[in-house]
Amino acid sequence: MTSTAGTQIPDLRVRGLGFQVGGVEILEDIDLEVPSGHFLGIIGPNGAGKSTLLNLLSGLLHPTAGTIELEGRQINGLGPFRRAQLGVGRTFQTSSLFATLSVFENARLSAEARLGGAKRFWHRPSLDDEASTVARDALEVVGLTHLAQWPSASLSHGDKRKLELAILVAQDARLLLLDEPMAGVNTEDVPGLTDLIRQLHSDGRTVLMVEHHMAVVVGLVETIAVLDSGRLLAQGSPDEIVANDEVQRAYLGQPL
Ligand SMILES: Nc1ncnc2c1ncn2[C@@H]1O[C@H](COP(=O)(O)OP(=O)(O)O)[C@@H](O)[C@H]1O
Ligand SMILES: [Mg+2]
Repeated sequence: MTSTAGTQIPDLRVRGLGFQVGGVEILEDIDLEVPSGHFLGIIGPNGAGKSTLLNLLSGLLHPTAGTIELEGRQINGLGPFRRAQLGVGRTFQTSSLFATLSVFENARLSAEARLGGAKRFWHRPSLDDEASTVARDALEVVGLTHLAQWPSASLSHGDKRKLELAILVAQDARLLLLDEPMAGVNTEDVPGLTDLIRQLHSDGRTVLMVEHHMAVVVGLVETIAVLDSGRLLAQGSPDEIVANDEVQRAYLGQPL
């Protein structure tokens, strides 16, 4: 890994990224640069390729063209677990919690995975204590301490989203990849969730958030990238994107 004097290495750099399935181009020639501490929103109509992009960035899928660099290191070949160890945390469009486990246990599993619990051959109480402390702190950050002992299935959609974010905190993720975090959440829970995401960002994390609804994105993100039919249509400030004719056309018939 090299760096030119005075040039900061971005947390994430994507060059010429492409993904093909059965001859169909799902994503094509995507270039993105996300500096450390930045908040990037990704919008685009349904089927544009937003979730596929997050699958490529989190290692669930591997690109058929281009490169993904994390802090200057090429990570194309690494799977989700290795990327998580490098600080990449991802949430899904639909909830991905262990339904029968408690809120605390969900957070604790994440802490254990980070602390090396999965590789343990013998019981180490000190590590258990550490994982529990990390999990408790993460629940505190997202405001779910009072629900720690409830099964995660009993939570409201909004609180499930908060728990998914607690899992990323427990994992010590520094680059958050959020796929439509407001999906399925009651309207009255959206402001609280928005505030929480804003706080996770201002605590020093880099955020890349996919969101279908423009209203949520504006006011939260610093720049917006627009995907349409697998291609990057535009990138700019929220104001620039709202005023962009091409973006308006891509959203024709849909609320921007
Ligand atoms: N594994 C796959 N095989 C074939 N087509 C896929 C696969 N995954 C996604 N697609 C297609 O790729 C396009 C982009 O999907 P997706 O990334 O889920 O879009 P978005 O999240 O923007 O709604 C869609 O046309 C979808 O049908
Ligand atoms: Mg999607």
